Amino acid sequence: MTSLILAIDQGTTSSRAILFDKGGNIVSLAQEEFPQHFPNSGWVEHHPDDIWGSTLRTVKQAITNSGKTVHSVAGIGITNQRETTLIWDKNTGEAVYNAIVWQDRRTGDYCRSLRDAGHTDMIQAKTGLLIDPYFSATKVRWILDNVDGARERAEKGDLLFGTVDCYLIWKLTGGAVHRTDATNASRTCLFNIHDQTWDKELLDLFGVPESMLPEVMDCSDDFGRSEAQLLGASLPIAGVAGDQQAALIGQTCFEPGMVKSTYGTGCFMIMNTGEHSETSHNKLLSTVGYRIDGKVTYAMEGSIFMAGATIQWLRDGLKLFSNASETEKLARATSEDHGVYLVPAFTGLGAPHWDPNARGAIFGLNRNSGIPELVAAGLQSVCYQTRDLQECMNRDVKASTDTLRVDGGMVSNNWVMQFLSDILGVQVDRPTVLETTALGVAYLAGLRLGWYDSLEEIATLWHKDRSFTPRLPEDRREKLYDGWLDAVARVKSDHN
Ligand code: G3P
Repeated sequence: MTSLILAIDQGTTSSRAILFDKGGNIVSLAQEEFPQHFPNSGWVEHHPDDIWGSTLRTVKQAITNSGKTVHSVAGIGITNQRETTLIWDKNTGEAVYNAIVWQDRRTGDYCRSLRDAGHTDMIQAKTGLLIDPYFSATKVRWILDNVDGARERAEKGDLLFGTVDCYLIWKLTGGAVHRTDATNASRTCLFNIHDQTWDKELLDLFGVPESMLPEVMDCSDDFGRSEAQLLGASLPIAGVAGDQQAALIGQTCFEPGMVKSTYGTGCFMIMNTGEHSETSHNKLLSTVGYRIDGKVTYAMEGSIFMAGATIQWLRDGLKLFSNASETEKLARATSEDHGVYLVPAFTGLGAPHWDPNARGAIFGLNRNSGIPELVAAGLQSVCYQTRDLQECMNRDVKASTDTLRVDGGMVSNNWVMQFLSDILGVQVDRPTVLETTALGVAYLAGLRLGWYDSLEEIATLWHKDRSFTPRLPEDRREKLYDGWLDAVARVKSDHN
């Protein structure tokens, strides 16, 4: 009797495997961090064997931890760090280069030349994206241009491209299946999100042979079966979505206008915009929220690169505390208007600024500024950046949302959640299950496997842990936010 779904969450700094029951409850979990490689300034790579090895080990560990066997598992869902780019030989399975990670900035100059050549509007119209090294297309081109013989091998049809989901499907199926889902495809900058096909003009522009590309499936679909020898039984891979879209599903944001914000390494705020893709005029991204039964639900996304990573820096770089759980107590030792602003532009600024050359700074220090103020400023920077995204989103959709669903590691910090609600001026809802990303693909797989009949049924499984409502008077809120805007303006590369 099968009673569990296995969700693989292959993230930027760790691989996780979680077993869920039908009610969406966590039965067991395993996690493994893996090495990050920084071969040059602004470059970020993962070794493909680390991605695969850590995934397989955590899957086996999660099954062991559950006290059950693989025969209790009905199927697999996969969610993943998006945009990260792999190219491998379809005959040998060997990757021709390390995975180039979404954070990698090596194609910045090439992106500038594309913007200068006037490609911005065409790319935004087709893909919903902006021209930035963040997305896969320029990474694919870089590998084909810089790895000896790669372009010739690709043109001969020997090389395959995939984002991490696609690579894991290929590995799990023993090289039998080369598929991805529509959410991951929508982050490559090669996929037309309106007609849901790989786009010929974009493939030509980026010099990517069509034979390298995976078949694009619905999020709840047939992604093949895992090789029996890997786990002791062959399991159907039945649900796939990029991690932020998976969180949208795990948060059951199925109605247009519903918004979720996930606080992991970075912060990704996504609004369901329904069956129409909204074009952003405020430098947000239009993307595929999910595709089920061939029907696309679109989303608008704001991506910021440093959320949990800021807290990591305060811990490991400045050594202000030894565990992130201490930050709530430290922040409570000061008031929210202590005057210090930390702008975490360590790797530039994401939405809505898209300024890769901006760098971090701390402003407003005085003789009373100490560890609590710096820690509070770090935590508040995440909230202020969320407000930046909220402002853009409201302008784009000409409406204002009154509730935000949150998830990810940082949201267990009640001080941050209260400040977030205060600075946004909206209710912040925290669900009982915070592993929302993994839960999202468990739901997608469950939908395919007949565990659930509909998204409506899945929506009934969302339960609130706690709501935070705004308490700060509007004038204080706006004064604090003005201080942030001033600080951000001073770190931007065009500031003089
Ligand atoms: O777009 C990048 C995003 O998918 C990475 O998410 O949670 O691995 O930092 P995460």
